[in-house]
Amino acid sequence: MYDFTPTPGQPKSALYRDLLEAALAITEGETDAVANMANCAALLAGFLSDLNWSGFYRMIGDELVLGPFAGRPACIRIALGKGVCGAAAATGKTQLVADVHAFPGHIACDAASRSELVVPVRRGGAVIAVIDLDSPLLARFDAEDAAGIEALAAAIADRI
Ligand code: SME
Repeated sequence: MYDFTPTPGQPKSALYRDLLEAALAITEGETDAVANMANCAALLAGFLSDLNWSGFYRMIGDELVLGPFAGRPACIRIALGKGVCGAAAATGKTQLVADVHAFPGHIACDAASRSELVVPVRRGGAVIAVIDLDSPLLARFDAEDAAGIEALAAAIADRI
């Protein structure tokens, strides 16, 4: 049994350090990308509060395709440049959106989502996936969340 749980009340820096350690531990030696993304999606849901969706979209051909996630069923294919995920994939840059209703072209997979953080996962210079986090709270994510998820993306890029 795996028991990776966050320490209640810990500062974000420690939370993201523990999340990164857990993700590296659970994916260690495993070559199956789906298994590794599935476990990372579950860790994100377990470590981060106030999320209604956490998971992966994979770059397949010229579009993003839904990958392992925790949350309600979601849009399956997202064209490059469309929505928050498509913007992250197209630009290679993290998208930190305080209010998704104010983001042009936001794709409302879950009507409960109010803020969103999308981080590209790069391997060999190319975006191979994005990590998408949705929250029902406005402005749930800040620069520290972005940095924490960027570090996670870099750490698992060779394992997904
Ligand atoms: N809202 C995202 C689509 C993915 S769902 O949130 C899971 C977007 O605009 O890209």
